[in-house]
Amino acid sequence: MDKICIIDMGSQYSHLIARRIREFGVFSEIVPFNIPLKELKKLEPRAIILSGGPSSVYEAESPNLPTEFFNYVIQQKIPVLGICYGLHLIIHQMGGKIIQTDKKEYGKIELNIIEKNLLFQSLNNKEIVWMSHGDQIKSMPEGFRVLAKTDTCPIAAFKNEKLNLYGVQFHPEVQHTINGNVILENFISLIAKAHRDWKLDDWIDKKIQEIKDIVGDKRVILGLSGGVDSSVTAILLHRAIGDNLHCIFVNNGLLRKNEEKEVQKQFNEKLGFKNLHYINAEDIFLEKLNNIEDPEEKRRIIGHTFIEVFENKTYELEQENLGIKYLAQGTIYPDRIETAKTSESAAKIKSHHNLTLPPDMKLKIIEPIKDLYKDEVRKIGLKLGLDNELIERHPFPGPGLAVRVLGPIDKKRLDTLREADAILLEEIKRANLYQNIWQIFCVLIPVRTVGVMGDYRTYEYICSIRAVESVDAMTANFAKLEWDLLEKIASRIINEVKGFNRVVYDISNKPPSTIEYE
Ligand code: XMP
Repeated sequence: MDKICIIDMGSQYSHLIARRIREFGVFSEIVPFNIPLKELKKLEPRAIILSGGPSSVYEAESPNLPTEFFNYVIQQKIPVLGICYGLHLIIHQMGGKIIQTDKKEYGKIELNIIEKNLLFQSLNNKEIVWMSHGDQIKSMPEGFRVLAKTDTCPIAAFKNEKLNLYGVQFHPEVQHTINGNVILENFISLIAKAHRDWKLDDWIDKKIQEIKDIVGDKRVILGLSGGVDSSVTAILLHRAIGDNLHCIFVNNGLLRKNEEKEVQKQFNEKLGFKNLHYINAEDIFLEKLNNIEDPEEKRRIIGHTFIEVFENKTYELEQENLGIKYLAQGTIYPDRIETAKTSESAAKIKSHHNLTLPPDMKLKIIEPIKDLYKDEVRKIGLKLGLDNELIERHPFPGPGLAVRVLGPIDKKRLDTLREADAILLEEIKRANLYQNIWQIFCVLIPVRTVGVMGDYRTYEYICSIRAVESVDAMTANFAKLEWDLLEKIASRIINEVKGFNRVVYDISNKPPSTIEYE
């Protein structure tokens, strides 16, 4: 299978580049800039993209690539495309000059294409592109040709056909570059001539076989949360090893209404899992969380208690001499790369809490979906028979409703919130809006206000509705829902849920507010 390597120079867009390429049907992988050359060679890249990054090539600590890297790609005729900082690096290494300009370019800019070429095939002479840079090329080494310019950047793209080196000062991977996809696809198809052989169906077959080969007749345990990642991990493993998969589903008392029933229905009844161990640990969690107000303390307690409950169950299963040898995790590609960036180690465990199982139980970690993006995980889930409902579920935080009942938590408050949240979701789904919204949920604000119901005065809590649109949860805008719909939801919550007599709608964006309240 052809593979495109994206060398990460510290860009926030590296994942975007990798995803775009996979969308063309070509496999892509992100590697750090300091990857040893022998490791890079092992990957046998069909082409390489050098990402952008916040540094300047003249800074002492800036990400660099050794001369041997350039010798290798040139000798092997591996096409390289430098984006922004990646472009500076190529020019700098090949003997050109990069300068800092006083006219920084930021935002949408008009690009003038000076010379037609494969990279810009089928583009117009003028294109709108997204720029974000202070440095730019002053002079180019011999053999490099200018392909495009802007008003303030005379060399906005280059090629050296003989050496197979290309560069663009702008960011083709972001949506604001209107024909950015065409440029990336031209590089992948026309210049690198990569085969479009990244197919999810093949991947599924190969992965199932690989799991069979690794696990053999041993058993695997998996913490199933009902979220997309752990669900797809479960179903893949189940296809490979059947009932040698033991799933542990912990009800921490902080789930949404009927969630525990739905997960059991999906896996036990619909998918025929025999070894789904349901643990109702609601009392344990709520007791430990009693009177805890601080959000981080709540998270810590929930994380630790989960580990405790999970370990106890695993230990109990182990006493039955089942031969459990593997612990499966639903780590996905962005989890791994994020971890690698911050800790230099790509092998950290996904969850907020590392599982430290009893010392006599040495389980090997198995992460079947660790190379996939979320949209790929979803597609695989659908292909393997998971319900659409489950696949399309909004993200739900590990600490669950504990961070949506503000301040101290108790069962009564949780139940009140669960009822309101269920009404909200029902109405949003009925209005066919669920898929268009990133997350929507209710929050219990433990402040009492006065209301009136019939002849009675009420004194109850406030329910806040939070609905946001986002692509990655890093930034988010509040969803501009119709007043009529909001009115209907508010009226149903106040009338049907005991404990709330007032509903407010949150109109804050992220930043500066966060999506969750705690
Ligand atoms: P914030 O509130 O930081 O949330 O804007 C960003 C995204 O992360 C989710 N979130 C969490 N997920 N454990 C999780 O698994 C947590 O402790 C946690 N806190 C926030 C949140 O739902 C949103 O999607």
